[in-house]
Amino acid sequence: MGVIHSLYREPAKVEIDERTCKRCGQCTSICPGEVLTMKDGSVRIRGDSPFGCIACGHCMMVCPEDSVRVTGRGISPEDLLLMPSSEERATVDELGALMRARRSVRRFKEKEVEPELLDRIVDMAASGPMGIPPWDVGCVTVRGQDKVRELADEIIKGYEKFLKIFKPWVFTLMHPFVRQATYQRFKYFIRPLAETYVGCHHEGRDVLFYDAPAVMVFHYSPYADLADATIACVYAMLASESLGLGNTIIGGAAPILQRNKALCQRLGIPEGNTPAIALILGYPATKFRRAIRRSFAAVNTIC
Ligand SMILES: Cc1cc2nc3c(=O)[nH]c(=O)nc-3n(C[C@H](O)[C@H](O)[C@H](O)COP(=O)(O)O)c2cc1C
Repeated sequence: MGVIHSLYREPAKVEIDERTCKRCGQCTSICPGEVLTMKDGSVRIRGDSPFGCIACGHCMMVCPEDSVRVTGRGISPEDLLLMPSSEERATVDELGALMRARRSVRRFKEKEVEPELLDRIVDMAASGPMGIPPWDVGCVTVRGQDKVRELADEIIKGYEKFLKIFKPWVFTLMHPFVRQATYQRFKYFIRPLAETYVGCHHEGRDVLFYDAPAVMVFHYSPYADLADATIACVYAMLASESLGLGNTIIGGAAPILQRNKALCQRLGIPEGNTPAIALILGYPATKFRRAIRRSFAAVNTIC
């Protein structure tokens, strides 16, 4: 049994071509699963490693002789791509400028986002580091302002239900039994946010997805982690930024989606997966003229 994944249970299979292998040991030194080891000057495939091959593909990627084949768990040598040259890669200044210029955008032009751009963003986002390969994360792209609005309407209905149940006196009752920060978050953030979503919706304003022409919803399997989907979302955000699109991470959709199985099914989210975070995208109608310094709440170094 390998590391359990929603689609795979078995470890991947590693093969070494003994005829071409020069026994340089690079594959053995990089293997994170301790599957490949050097013994008596040869590469050995251990059958007793803790998880077996997790299909990270690192051994195939470092082998100077193309002597390693990894297959299974959704990977094969056909997945290998040419390594981008150093000229093709963003410099620290270019990446820093992209990050500094990025702002959350909540006003969009009345222009749809080309499907090819959305596909490219999904492709780029999948290159992020999401836990143990193969990524057990999914992405639903909702394309077109009308479809996004329909989804927003359904989510707002969930907030209407929430407001009916979580009346202010319910928080008062809950207060002694929950952490102070949880109580405060509910009372001073989550309930007012729900009221804002619902109130604006009645005025015909969408302050959940801001009438965006596209939204991506990232979800993760029970064998993955919230962080995996969040990383996918952040990669998609940076990819969309590099393509000249505006975007905002939206946390307000997932709590309702998580409680609406029928809606998840309609979105094609596999049963058992948890919707984690959304990203709205579109051509920005706002132009920011300045960047801003941001900082962490706490920074310390231990040496
Ligand atoms: C996890 C997460 C959830 C967020 N959820 C929302 C949201 O539901 N609605 C929204 O308008 N912005 C949301 N944002 C965006 C933040 O409000 C945004 O980062 C903040 O406005 C700062 O703007 P900046 O991105 O331009 O620095 C979210 C951001 C994160 C990281």
